[in-house]
Amino acid sequence: TTYNVGVIIGSIATESINRRLAKALIALAPQADLALTEIPIKGLPFYSYDNDGAIPAEAAEFKSAIESADAVVIVTPEYNRSVPGVLKNALDTASRPWGDNSFAGKPSAVIGASVGAIGTAVAQQHLRSILSFLASPELSQPEAYIHLRDGLIDDEGQVTDESTADFLLSWLKAVHTHIAKSLSPVE
Ligand code: FNR
Repeated sequence: TTYNVGVIIGSIATESINRRLAKALIALAPQADLALTEIPIKGLPFYSYDNDGAIPAEAAEFKSAIESADAVVIVTPEYNRSVPGVLKNALDTASRPWGDNSFAGKPSAVIGASVGAIGTAVAQQHLRSILSFLASPELSQPEAYIHLRDGLIDDEGQVTDESTADFLLSWLKAVHTHIAKSLSPVE
């Protein structure tokens, strides 16, 4: 089965290395029987429950994109040892209004790229806490911390190093298995 997976990129920077990583994943995905499509967060207003009664169009569109995907992959940078504010805002937006949490039961997987060798581990741990509270079944293994050295992924999303490409593909295959398990009806 080919699953449709939404991709949330936790950075809105034009030169984002996590966008570069997401492009690589999108290109490799068909080999893992996945179709990856970005769910953009750049246009989202700041979340406030003041707007719960009349949800902004961008927020409603974002929520329905998550709901119609089979699963969500989140590609996150680490900013100050946590997730960027723009990503937390997107997750808060998806979680509300109360009783209308778009992540409930939605399988998810997290991955991230940093310029530092140990980067994104702490941010991913925070992200896992949030997804757990949102009742999203997460892929727990393999973990994926990508040290994005210069030139590892080119502008077109082509991975230049074979072992990294192999690792990303094996991670995507694990995502596929995780989705299949999470979506299969309980016996
Ligand atoms: C960073 N960076 C960073 N890296 C890391 O490994 N741990 C961290 O805590 C931080 N903190 C941090 C804070 C802020 C405000 C910025 C702008 C950057 C460096 C970060 O890995 C690098 O800028 C990446 O390029 C960020 O990913 P995107 O936004 O390019 O996808």
